[in-house]
Order: sequence, then C-alpha cells, then structure tokens
Amino acid sequence: MKTPTAKTKTDASKSASSKAATSKTATSKTVTAGRKVKAKSTAAEELRELYTDSLKDIYWAEKHLLKALPKMAKNATTETLINAINDHIAVTEEQVARLERVFELAGKKAVAKKCDAMEGLIKEGQDIMESTEPGAVRDAGIIAASQKIEHYEIATYGTLCAFAKTLGEDEALELLKQTLAEEKEADVTLTEAAYNSINFEAAEGEGDEDEDENMTEEN
Ligand SMILES: [Fe+2]
Ligand SMILES: [Fe+2]
Repeated sequence: MKTPTAKTKTDASKSASSKAATSKTATSKTVTAGRKVKAKSTAAEELRELYTDSLKDIYWAEKHLLKALPKMAKNATTETLINAINDHIAVTEEQVARLERVFELAGKKAVAKKCDAMEGLIKEGQDIMESTEPGAVRDAGIIAASQKIEHYEIATYGTLCAFAKTLGEDEALELLKQTLAEEKEADVTLTEAAYNSINFEAAEGEGDEDEDENMTEEN
C-alpha cells in the first residue's frame, strides 16, 4: 500500500510543481510585458552612449556635492569629521577635473545631466541635519548621510570602470580607478570616525528619551 500512495503523492506534487512552473512563466511574462519602459527618442543604443550618459550623471553629482559638502562641514562639530569633509572637498574638485579629462578621452564635451539619486541623497543629508541637535548626534547623522553618498559613488565608479574596460578606454579606466579608490578611502575614513568616537559620544544621551520612539514611523 505504501508504494502506490507514494507514487500518487509524487504524481500529485509533479503536477502541482508543473502547474506552478506554468503559472510562474505566465506571471513573469506578464510582469515583463507590463514593465517594459518606452525608450525616449534620445535613448542609448550602444554601451558607449550609456557610458557617456553615465559620465554626465556623475559629473552633475560631483558638482552638486561640491556645493553641499561645505554645509556639512559647517554643521559638523568633531574635528576629525570636519577635516574628513574638508579633505573630501579638495579630492572632489580633483575628481571633477578628472571627469573632464575622461570626457575628453571619449571625444565628448563635459556636460552635466541631473542625477536624481545624488539630489535625493543630498536632500536626505539636509533632512538629517534638520532632525538632529548640533554635536555628536548630528555628526553621527552627517556620517550616515555621507556614507550613503560614498556608497552611491563607489557603485557608479565601479560600473564606469567596467564600461571603460569593455570599451577599451584604457587611459580613462586608470583615471576612473583612481577616483574609485578615493571614494572607498573616504568611506573607510568616515567609518573610522564613527567607530572611534562620534557614535559613542552620540550614544551618551541614550535612555533619555522614550525607547519606543525609534520604533515609530515619522511622517
Ligand atoms: Fe566623488
Ligand atoms: Fe565621494
């Protein structure tokens, strides 16, 4: 009696998994069809175009960041953090110049195209500053916002390096790699500043407020 039962069960589960597979295929087809975005008339058709579009995007992002960083430095209290931000302003200026060289190597004019992601990340940094009292807590917030920015830049330059490599843009690749290394270094510096002192100082006020507050969504 055991064998037929097992067989029936196997057949049933085979049938169920086959139905599930069919329905999954149908669903994913529907989802894909529903998500296909209509391309603009200016849409990139080749990797080289996507590469230059991405350069325009990060060029805008770096320039926009240059305007936002001094405000972050002014709002920071800890010397380590102020120095880290000021150092990164100088580094970012070099990165902008490096990007202009990368455009030149690609035979393109350096043009900035609004980067929605960087605009949002900088806006979030502004919100964090408004939501924190000056001192260690605001510093911890500035570090959090800055690290999100650095991670975005690391992802972007990582992609640009891959594109440059594929396209045989060897000189540009070396420049982009240099910037990628600087962004990674900035991220490490911020992590160290947070772990070495700022987060501990910021935590000193812990327990003063209602513990449930952190669990409440603010709108
Ligand atoms: Fe940068
Ligand atoms: Fe950066």
